Amino acid sequence: MHRNIVLVGFMGTGKTSVGRVLADRLGWIFSDTDHHVEEKAGMPVSQIFAEQGEEAFRQLETEALQELLGLQNRIIATGGGAVLKEENRRLMEEGGLVVALNAAEEVIVERVREDAARPLLAGNVEERVRLLMEARRTAYAFAPVQLDTGRLTVQQAAERIIGELARPS
Ligand code: S3P
Repeated sequence: MHRNIVLVGFMGTGKTSVGRVLADRLGWIFSDTDHHVEEKAGMPVSQIFAEQGEEAFRQLETEALQELLGLQNRIIATGGGAVLKEENRRLMEEGGLVVALNAAEEVIVERVREDAARPLLAGNVEERVRLLMEARRTAYAFAPVQLDTGRLTVQQAAERIIGELARPS
């Protein structure tokens, strides 16, 4: 049995909403690395980016992964860029079942359009999503479970993941 479930994926793929339903279904605790970082830093992610830079945020993100993945029976939603560091990927693979949530570019643009909380999408959202998705094209491929959330409800996505838990690893 896996210790935790780690949700990875681009911004707007549904990590938080699927994670919450999954936690509810399994009776596990939902955690979010962005939220953990914000609690520790005492400020929102956008303010960390603005005042301390992305590098400082990435450091805090790795620390959040170290802490959360040391626990068990957690659903851990990670920030879209958390997979970019080799160290983070290793922590995730060792700490639980890594599930990548995917969605088409147009679906993502619609989901993130009204949300001003994401510093990397400031400006022209279509353009930012297109460029970042291109740069991260293979970034989520390491996850053994891949799920397209574009055509699934949050409940259906959670059910699929629960189905994966039953498979021998
Ligand atoms: C980021 C994604 C965000 C947050 C930060 C950077 C990224 O999390 O960690 O703004 O690099 O893709 P979500 O994927 O939860 O939006």
